[in-house]
Amino acid sequence: MGAIGELRPAPSALPGAGPSLEKSTTERVLQIRHWTPTLLSFRTTRHRGFRFRPGHYTRLGLGDPEAAVWRPYSLASAAYDEFLEFIAVRVPGGAFSEKLATLRVGDTLQVDKASYGFLTVDQLAPGKDLWLLASGTGLGPFLSILHDPAVWRDYRRLILVHSVRRAAELAWREDIAALPRPELRADATATLRYLPVVTREPGATTLAERIPLLLADGRLEAAAGATLDLADSRLMVCGNPELAKELRRILGERGYATNRRGMPGQMAFEKYW
Ligand SMILES: Cc1cc2nc3c(=O)[nH]c(=O)nc-3n(C[C@H](O)[C@H](O)[C@H](O)COP(=O)(O)OP(=O)(O)OC[C@H]3O[C@@H](n4cnc5c(N)ncnc54)[C@H](O)[C@@H]3O)c2cc1C
Ligand SMILES: NC(=O)c1ccc[n+]([C@@H]2O[C@H](COP(=O)([O-])OP(=O)(O)OC[C@H]3O[C@@H](n4cnc5c(N)ncnc54)[C@H](OP(=O)(O)O)[C@@H]3O)[C@@H](O)[C@H]2O)c1
Repeated sequence: MGAIGELRPAPSALPGAGPSLEKSTTERVLQIRHWTPTLLSFRTTRHRGFRFRPGHYTRLGLGDPEAAVWRPYSLASAAYDEFLEFIAVRVPGGAFSEKLATLRVGDTLQVDKASYGFLTVDQLAPGKDLWLLASGTGLGPFLSILHDPAVWRDYRRLILVHSVRRAAELAWREDIAALPRPELRADATATLRYLPVVTREPGATTLAERIPLLLADGRLEAAAGATLDLADSRLMVCGNPELAKELRRILGERGYATNRRGMPGQMAFEKYW
């Protein structure tokens, strides 16, 4: 089997650990969008051999190729796009993200030839409603998933919840509201409910509390017009690790489980730190 794009264990957790040079390709920045001074998204060229499944992440390398700093980043672009797209927060003093934030169109960076992770729909048992719960840059992999024709065909309802501190961080807000794009509509049966949540700007969105609270008191289900039900609901959570921990606990108490020993579960998680 080829090494590219396979589902395989996460790479070494060593800080900054990355693939050897022959296991990465050099790609060029095509476009950068600054959503706020600390949030940007960018597109790069895509090596024609690079394969991934919606929900996967890869590793990006910056700096002198012999001593590059590497970090995992989720792919926000569609599996069929000719470019790769990422969304990134700038962490003050962060070894990688501070460098990333200075990138200009035309600059180069290294991209691991492989993609990784378990935040993919094939980790879930078949269901009817797919809940995608993101905080901050955790939106990225869900954008890729929402550009996958299969989820529009296989689910009845897609529910995207994006929690951010400030409204300006609701990246791709208009694009999401305009989904599905015509090319995804052909055999689409699903509807999309997009629920933005702004937590530090009162009045910016109807939902303004943290996701676990909104879930626990039923407000999220009311806003989605859907009830969480073990038989039909599938959930994916991405971003802040405390958010993931709390949701794992709440959902676990309701009987939801993650994929175990290859047995698809009802929920899947990706923690960013
Ligand atoms: C599987 C995986 C996928 C990831 N995908 C993305 C992605 O798509 N976009 C992205 O911006 N980051 C993503 N990250 C985080 C990313 O790899 C780096 O940690 C981040 O860019 C900061 O790197 P740094 O060297 O500047 O700081 P680090 O030393 O790596 O991090 C310092 C601190 O910054 C905070 N932090 C790190 N990442 C984030 C974040 N995304 N949002 C809010 N606070 C954060 C945490 O408190 C962390 O302890 C991902 C991480 C993992 C494990
Ligand atoms: N976003 C900014 O304005 C900003 C500015 C400068 C630097 N940064 C850097 O970026 C990082 C934070 O980025 P971020 O704002 O994208 O991520 P974040 O702190 O994880 O916040 C994103 C969303 O997740 C919510 N959240 C945080 N912890 C949660 C928990 N335990 N349970 C449920 N929801 C939770 C937040 O709500 P709450 O608002 O209630 O926390 C917010 O709505 C920090 O490391 C900081 O250094 C961010």
